[in-house]
Amino acid sequence: MFPRLSAYSQIVARLQWNPAAIDFTADARAWPTLPDARRRRLTTLLAGFRVAEDAVAQHLVPFADVAEDLDSMQMWIFFLQRRDEDRHALFFDRVSAEVLRLPGGTPAERRAAASAHVPPALLELFDVRLPALAADLAAGRAELLDGIALYHMVLEGAVFTAGQRALLDDLADGALPGVRAGLEHVELDERWHIGFGLRCLTGARAPNLLDDLPARAAEAAAVWGDAVPDVNRDQMMEMCRRRLSIAGAALARTAA
Ligand SMILES: [Fe+2]
Ligand SMILES: [Fe+2]
Repeated sequence: MFPRLSAYSQIVARLQWNPAAIDFTADARAWPTLPDARRRRLTTLLAGFRVAEDAVAQHLVPFADVAEDLDSMQMWIFFLQRRDEDRHALFFDRVSAEVLRLPGGTPAERRAAASAHVPPALLELFDVRLPALAADLAAGRAELLDGIALYHMVLEGAVFTAGQRALLDDLADGALPGVRAGLEHVELDERWHIGFGLRCLTGARAPNLLDDLPARAAEAAAVWGDAVPDVNRDQMMEMCRRRLSIAGAALARTAA
């Protein structure tokens, strides 16, 4: 039902990609020609990912540190995930600089510029709640599984999934081919991250942490405001329900 922990290295190896190699020439040319409303919505989504992927890359560190004491294989998988998150942060930084043309000569300056385009509720989630959780984990005040419930199931499983669905639908016409190509890689990476999180929760027999997942997911995905259409929120909720049924089936099997 879930891959063996030892299989993750092969899964990740198959998904390798290089965000520095993506060609944004056509995207940069097309961007100023898109209608204003479409550019505004895409800016909210892409600037949101610029900020959020930076935050998840930074705040995954204590997860690996805590896992080191529990299970060295799990720690290694968090390390593999961290490499993905660094790639995602680089990809969205390049999009910000080369396509959106956000001001700033350094990644930190571009991150600050991106924040100005992001709904406050999204900033609260990634600049306040996630760092607070990471600090609690590092200090031993929070459990690893509580961290996974927020990070993998809510932030990645709900906020990222809904935002990715919205971006992939919007860019299905090929208007920004480099952005779309990178997003497809990001989405595949995030699928294994979320699956790994789900595996950790069900493997630890912590189904209670999933009880309120649909409510938490719906609330968290709302941070995008109207940048994410209802149809994409519904798709995300359906994926959420599917994950819960996989978790339920896995738990039933281990209980049998
Ligand atoms: Fe990511
Ligand atoms: Fe991720």
